[in-house]
Formats: sequence, C-alpha cells, structure tokens
Amino acid sequence: PVVGVSMPHESANLHVTGAALYTDDLVHRTKDVLHAHPVQVMKAHGRITALRTEPALAVPGVVRVLTGADVPGVNDAGMKHDEPLFPDEVMFHGHAVAWVLAETLEAARLGAAAVEVELDEKPSVITLQEAIAAGSFHGARPVMLTGDVDAGFDDSAHVFTGEFHFSDQEHFYLETHAALAQVDEGGQMFVQSSTQHPSETQEIVAHVLGLHSHEVTVQCLRMGGGFGGKEMQPHGFAAVAALGAMLTGRPVRVRLNRTQDLTMSGKRHGFHATWKIGFDAEGRIQALDATLTADGGWSLDLSEPVVARALCHIDNTYWIPNARVTGRIAKTNKVSNTAFRGFGGPQGMLVIEDIMGRCAPLLGLDPMELRERNFYRQGHSTPYGQPVAHPERISVIWRQVQEDAAVADRKREIAAFNAAHPNTKRALAVTGIKFGISFNLTAFNQAGALVLIYKDGSVLINHGGTEMGQGLHTKMLQVAATTLGIPLHKVRLAPTRTDKVPNTSATAASAGADLNGAAVKNACEQLRGRLLQVAGTQLGANASDVRIVEGVARVLGDDKTLAWDDLVRTAYFQRVQLSAAGFYRTEGLHWDAKAFQGSPFKYFSYGAAATEVEVDGFTGAYRIRRVDIVHDVGDSLSPMIDIGQVEGGFVQGAGWLTLEDMRWDTGDGPNRGRLLTQAASTYKLPSFSEMPEEFNVRLLENATEEGAVYGSKAVGEPPLMLAFSVREALRQAAGEFGPGGAGVELASPATPEAVYWAVEAARRGG
Ligand code: MTE
Ligand code: MOS
Repeated sequence: PVVGVSMPHESANLHVTGAALYTDDLVHRTKDVLHAHPVQVMKAHGRITALRTEPALAVPGVVRVLTGADVPGVNDAGMKHDEPLFPDEVMFHGHAVAWVLAETLEAARLGAAAVEVELDEKPSVITLQEAIAAGSFHGARPVMLTGDVDAGFDDSAHVFTGEFHFSDQEHFYLETHAALAQVDEGGQMFVQSSTQHPSETQEIVAHVLGLHSHEVTVQCLRMGGGFGGKEMQPHGFAAVAALGAMLTGRPVRVRLNRTQDLTMSGKRHGFHATWKIGFDAEGRIQALDATLTADGGWSLDLSEPVVARALCHIDNTYWIPNARVTGRIAKTNKVSNTAFRGFGGPQGMLVIEDIMGRCAPLLGLDPMELRERNFYRQGHSTPYGQPVAHPERISVIWRQVQEDAAVADRKREIAAFNAAHPNTKRALAVTGIKFGISFNLTAFNQAGALVLIYKDGSVLINHGGTEMGQGLHTKMLQVAATTLGIPLHKVRLAPTRTDKVPNTSATAASAGADLNGAAVKNACEQLRGRLLQVAGTQLGANASDVRIVEGVARVLGDDKTLAWDDLVRTAYFQRVQLSAAGFYRTEGLHWDAKAFQGSPFKYFSYGAAATEVEVDGFTGAYRIRRVDIVHDVGDSLSPMIDIGQVEGGFVQGAGWLTLEDMRWDTGDGPNRGRLLTQAASTYKLPSFSEMPEEFNVRLLENATEEGAVYGSKAVGEPPLMLAFSVREALRQAAGEFGPGGAGVELASPATPEAVYWAVEAARRGG
C-alpha cells in the first residue's frame, strides 16, 4: 500500500528548481495586467477628513484609484463586518485607505505616494497594558468553569500568583500576500489567491462586488507558506484585485512587498495573563484561576476562536479539577491579529508551562517530577468537559523520550559540568503536549472531494484543502492511490478551486488531511465499488472476491487478472460513471460556545521533547545542544512529510519563544504605533545557526487512531509547542547561576538579553 510509505513532497522537485508556480508567477503569463499599490496612512488612529486622488491620476501610467465609493457591494473584508475594505477611519499605522492601479508597479507606487490624505488624529491604544488600563476590549468574553475553584484553593497547601506578558509572532511565510483577478465572460470573476480558505475568499469577493458565489471562482495553486496568516487575511487583498478587475475590465494583480506584508497583515496574538494556582502538599494542582487577554488588534478577525482555543488548551497535559479561566480580546490600534500555527493553543499552553516552570523550585520539586505528577489519568476530563481518551499515551511518550534522550545519564553529566563551570551552565528540560484536533465550531468539520477517472486510466483528484508546503497534497495522492489500489504515478492532483468543491473549510486546525483525506477516500471507495462490479463480471467472480492491488484486479484464490487501464476502459463502454464526489463530516463532536462546555475535539495529539541548552553567564547567549522528540501522529500517512512537519513546527515554536522579538513604537512621538521590526534585518528568524546541534525526531509506533483516515493523526500545528522544552531548559540553566530554590521568571521571547536578566535575577537569589 502507498499510505504509510515515506516519499518526498509531491512538488519537491519543482520547489527546489524554481519551477513551482505561485500566484504571482501567473502574472507573467497574463496579458494587460494592472498592478495595485496600497495608499498606507502612517498614523495609528484618526478619522479621514479628506482623500484627494486626482494627483495620483496625473502620474503617468496610473489608470485608476480605488476608494470606498467604488464598491458596488459591501465595503467589508471580514466575516465579522468590522473590517471596512476602504476605511473612513485609520485604525493602525500603515492602514491602507485606497489602492492605485497602474500599468507598472512603479507607476502605482508613485501614484499611491501622490494621493493626499488628511486626518483628524485620535488617541491610540498600542500595548496590551494600555488596552487593559483603558478597558479597550471587543468580542466575546468566554469563561471556562469547572469544579469549585474557591474550595480548590482552600484545599491547597501552596498557592502562587503571577503575571505573564508574552510576545506576538510574525508568520514570515516566504510568499507574501498575493492575488490576481480576471473578469471572465459575462462579468464573472476568476481570482487566483494565495489563500488557505478559498471558499471564504470567494464569499468576501462576492460580497464586495455584489455578486453571487456562483459568479466568483477562487483558485489556489499552492502557497509559499501560510501558517495561519492566510486563513482570513487574503480576502481583502483578493477583493481589491477583483474590484479593480471589475472596474477596469483588465486583470489586476495585488502582491505585497515584505514591508507592506509586515505592516498590513495580522500576526500571532501576544497575550497577557494573570494567574493564581493552588497545589496540594504533593504538588498536584487543586485549582487555577486565570485571565488571559489577547491582543486582537483593530478588528476581530479570528480573535474569538483563537481565544477559545487558548482556554481549551490551558490544561495542556495536566488535570485541573477546579478552574475558572476568563478570556478577553483587547482592541488596539495595530494590525488585526489572526490565526497562527496552533491558533491560541500555544498561548494557553505557554501559560500553564510557565506556571509549572516557575512553581517547581518553589515546591521543591524537579520540574519533570512536577509535570509528571499532574498528567491526565484514566477517567479525567478537561475543564471544558471532554473526557481525555488514551491519557496513558502521555506517559508512554514521556518515558520513551527520556529513554531516547538518555535523560537520567545526561542529567548527571550536566550536574558535573555545571559544578565545574561557574560561568557556563547547561540544563535539560522535558515538556509534553496535548493538542485537540478538530475545529471548535462543529460545522467546520466537513470536507468534500471530486475524483475523476479518465478513459486512459489516469486519475485526477480535486479536494477542498490547500497546499502551503505542509504536504497535504502528497498525502491525498497516497490516500487515493491506496484506496483505488493503483500506483501513485496514475494519480494527479488539481489546484484547489471553489468551482470543483464548494463550501470548504479553511485548511487549518491541522485537520486538512483528516477531513480531506476522508472525503477523497470516500469518493475513491465509491469508484472502487463500481469498478469491482465491472471486474467481477469480466473475471466471472463475485465483486466481493475481487481486489485491486497495484493496478491489477484479481480474484481471490484465482489467477485471473484484469489490468487497471483495461478495467477502466471496459467500465467506460459499459457506461459506468467514472467520477465521484466524496464527502466527510467528523462524527461525535459537540460544542456549546456559551456554556464553554462540550467535546469539540475528535481526538488529542500528543508529544514530548527533551532539550538541552547551554547558557553563557556573561552575555545570556545560548545554544541548543540537543533535542529529542517523540511525537504521536497515529499511523503516519507519509512519515517523511510528518517528520518534516515536526521539525519545522518545533523550530517555528523555538523562534517564537526565543528569537522573534517584535517591537512597536509605543512612545508618544509622531511614529506612535509603527511596527519597528519591518524586515528580516531587525526581526530575527531561526536560521541554520540556531538549529539544535543534534536533532532527533521519532514518530510514536503502534499508534493507530481508530476512526481517522487510515489510522493517522493530524500533525501540522502540535509540534510547535514542543519548543516549550527550549524555554524551560533556558529557565533552568539561568536558575543554575543562583543558589536555587527560587522560581526563575523568564521573559518571552527568551532572547539572549532576556536570558541574561534571568541569570542576573537568579544570581541575586530569584
Ligand atoms: N507547514 C508548512 N510547510 N507551511 C505552512 O504554511 N502551516 C501550518 C501547518 N504546517 C504550514 C505548515 C498550519 S498553521 C496548519 S493549520 C497546518 O499546516 C495546515 O495543514 P494541514 O491541516 O494539512 O496539516
Ligand atoms: Mo493553522 S493556524 O490552523 O492555519
């Protein structure tokens, strides 16, 4: 069978030779394209009192300036109707208020610079602290309640409180936002967009243009990375391109340069958390009371579901019998923060892992011991009421990663090293993860596929998921080939299009392979059923005794065979339908968003990482000496792809937690609200030099997940959170510089500077 076999990404050759096409590459294949350039206003907040576009029209090459007056439909690019595409009010530094279309990008740029905007400036809210002080919030304020929190604190031998503010994160996908729109016959719109959510892009484009969804087709070839940043944010850019195309009759291209992308598009939400936790005398959590405030930015976007996922993950792998956790969304004059790998899960989990790391020394326990004592056991439920199935996997993985990493031996070596080195300290931390798979909103857990078999025996698959480098298409090819019983080379995958599969969900929540894989499998099973009938008749056997394996139909216990291509041709002449629409919906889910209770997840994904770091006491500089990971992906559909996802997720998480230090101008000067880290020169991403010196990733064996496609589990997001082990190792190493016994506080990101201050605090005794 093809499923479960390691194979390279289906586009790997194209990726590395530069032959893979991305949305903006299509521009060179399209005639008479107009280029769009945003008119960004460089103030954090203010009402527009005048917008003069005539000077732009005087610039040679400028064809048209798009403003709110041009919108035939609804002037809004969001699902919450709080996101005017052409705003009357500038809500963040760099907000685009108009777009200039021109024959060249340079002419469009000059045109945009010529547009005159007058502003009645208003006070702005930039930081989370300012928002909290001013009571600037928007959206829902969920409360997750379980047990009796007050009684839990009364029963606690130790109660600690704390506050934690941690940073946002830029997606930094290699391909910036891009769209190319063209008018087809009769005014219908065809938009190619770098989007994780073609159906929603289609919906927004239709709203803005005042068209029906059947008049708008959105296609996504592939993305050069999305990471959640293209789940909701592409819609507005696609709508601008489509509006321009509608008004000029010419193809219109929007492609942001890096600075525009950084200053206009949303990021991972930074959070502020206050917490109070109670432990019994043995270090078991009795109660947690916490308030998480997410920096939502100017519009709601996906902030509500992100906060819901943060609350649903604050437990991570730990049983918390009594909990009260409140979520809030700050409204700030910044870009609208959005989905980012983990979708709030990392933020919720970081809070509890930070608590564990800080409290372990205060409880006189080894951090690993404290974590292990609190793991979920059989019969436990999450604070939102979902029973935790297979909690024993946490312990199995926990033991396995310690074995792989030789944790006990290395801890002894580290202790000896530290005793001999007053100015360099090492530490090894092990952390685990539990991540819920499925969209919290039950309705999103559905998918469709359309599988076509042509007369020559070749197969073309369409499904609703998008490819952003994560290997979804590779897995879908493997699923189709396996289900049909044919070699992989017989199957090809078509770009994702809304006119092939309608009403799709975003390729997100790591559920792409689960949902679309099951839909592809369903379509292939229908086709296989029909073909087995044909084969049975041809081979003189019952259809139920026929198997198709590696492109040959055979009767069980017989040597009669029929080759796939002949089988398909025969079926065609017998007028058997050779295409099928597949569908899947995840059963057994329910979620009451108001009560914040239910079983929103099909299953949990588990993993653990052991990370050793070395910290220099003079500078706070550090290196990651070794990482060992054991991660649960069920029975892997495609092991090499999955290992790549684990490695990439871990490194992206380590970037968030240690390097990526996003800075905003929070002063009262003329640039208040400006993103200061506008380029790779000031925003430090993980690169070769930050990779772990030794990096061992292993997939959990014998891990079949019942009821998921071929026993596999989602992989895309969870490994990001394995990087908590890096942060905890840094905290422990910093603690080694002091007398011990005190909880070391560590800022996030734990840049060398932050680690240095933690070392200094540890030296002073905490
Ligand atoms: N891997 C690559 N290479 N590029 C990406 O943009 N996005 C991540 C993850 N892995 C991403 C990635 C995110 S945020 C999600 S939700 C999943 O892939 C989405 O794909 P899946 O559902 O097919 O796993
Ligand atoms: Mo991923 S954040 O769900 O696109």
